[in-house]
Amino acid sequence: MDFNLIKRLQIPKLDLGNIEWPKFEFSGKQWPKMPKLRIGDAVAKLPIVQGGMGVGISLSGLASAVANEGGIGVIAANSIGMLDPEYYAKNKDANSIILRREIRKAKEKTSGLLGVNIMVAVDDCLDLIRVAIEEKIDMVFLGAGLPIKGIPVEDLRAAGVKVIPIVSSARAAGLIFKSWAKKYRDIPDAVVVEGPKAGGHLGFKAEQIDDPDFALERILPDVVAEIKTFETKFQRTIPVIAAGGIFVGADIYKIFKLGASGVQMGTRFVATHECDANIKFKESYVACREDDIEIIKSPVGLPGRAIRNSFLKDIAAGKKIGFKCAWRCLKSCDLKNARYCISLALDNARQGILDKGFAFAGSNAFRVDKIVSVNELLQELIHQYQQAEEKGANKLRDEYEKALETLVSLKEEYFIAMKKGLGSLKDEYEQGIEKGTEMLREEYSKATNKISSLKVEYQSVVDKANLLKAELVEMIEQYSLFDKIQIVGTCQEPCQ
Ligand SMILES: Cc1cc2nc3c(=O)[nH]c(=O)nc-3n(C[C@H](O)[C@H](O)[C@H](O)COP(=O)(O)O)c2cc1C
Repeated sequence: MDFNLIKRLQIPKLDLGNIEWPKFEFSGKQWPKMPKLRIGDAVAKLPIVQGGMGVGISLSGLASAVANEGGIGVIAANSIGMLDPEYYAKNKDANSIILRREIRKAKEKTSGLLGVNIMVAVDDCLDLIRVAIEEKIDMVFLGAGLPIKGIPVEDLRAAGVKVIPIVSSARAAGLIFKSWAKKYRDIPDAVVVEGPKAGGHLGFKAEQIDDPDFALERILPDVVAEIKTFETKFQRTIPVIAAGGIFVGADIYKIFKLGASGVQMGTRFVATHECDANIKFKESYVACREDDIEIIKSPVGLPGRAIRNSFLKDIAAGKKIGFKCAWRCLKSCDLKNARYCISLALDNARQGILDKGFAFAGSNAFRVDKIVSVNELLQELIHQYQQAEEKGANKLRDEYEKALETLVSLKEEYFIAMKKGLGSLKDEYEQGIEKGTEMLREEYSKATNKISSLKVEYQSVVDKANLLKAELVEMIEQYSLFDKIQIVGTCQEPCQ
């Protein structure tokens, strides 16, 4: 018999190290408002961008109301000249004239942050950018195409105008940033990633719209990762703003957890008193049901989301509505085969003439049940966000506390295994009970294996608890709100 067996075999130590396990107390605290949105030196009190909505849905009225509340208000430049009664005489000049007028009107009403939304695909894109520069708007949002060629970056920089492309994939974001870095030795200031639940024209193929692989929650982390490389290279923070289907404060909380620093919302802002559209346009949001919202094939060659009505039904049935094209505003417009002019239809809808047009709307438009003020909407979103934050933090704390409980019971199990397993084997030896060496070796090996696996398990729970602890501490520091941490206990002795 080999009575020195136990001494020769290794018994793994359960070293608890100098881990401090703080207790997190949240009760009775006022939860923080949403974090600010920083785009270079422009700081929005609220991380909410009101998406540009054409034709004429977001003008100076809505944009200034949002900016006054601390968000970013955006004027949609697309076909804005249609507001001019002499549109057909002035042609594309009307767009620049009315855009300038709306920027000035908005600036008179607010000192908050304002942007202009311009479609890259429109023929007068550069003229509209020029107006934005001359009027020193805070930022331009460039969508419906890649803002790569001929962007007057130097002039935009000189006027302090931030540039924010709107993309629907990490690939598009990468192409824009790479091309800017090469051509202009500069990068855009932020990026909007718009998912397939948005209203208006969509940057997806029809078959991608309901494909989970193209959902906002899937494409956003890829865009964040893509932008990270440029942030490192240029030593700048480039916020990613998520859009499409964001409806309540909890959606904002969830999308922030996936890496967004801001949200762009359209649908919710349509149903506000300050929205520049006719009341009939807004009421069509309140009245619509889920199955009224459909994907249409726009004459400009892109899918779009809209509320089905008699106009769209007629078009789907093959009706062609003759129109006079003012100046071929969109290069991609299939003029010969177009059954109607989309700018004209959208401008009619803006004026409440819904039998001669239709309302673009996000996939959640059916959830709109009333028209409220911009202030009421934003207060509701803030409140819901705070509730979601509190719920999230409590969940995190519960998980953390559970991990600590698991650590205690694992530790107990470990010591029992040590004492009962190895201890009784040792006793058997000492009492001189006859057993074959092989049997003893087997039993001993079983006991040490169990102890080893308990140790591995213990370590993985320690790692998990540490991660949860770091997340909680970061959250607390971010808001510097709570009376920090109450230390419950520390285990500093290596336990064997
Ligand atoms: C009525 C309407 C018109 C829109 N027009 C434009 C536009 O002219 N240019 C643009 O880039 N996006 C446009 N959008 C998209 C919004 O700016 C925004 O990104 C989108 O609606 C966000 O999704 P949500 O509506 O689910 O909040 C429009 C959306 C709506 C609802």
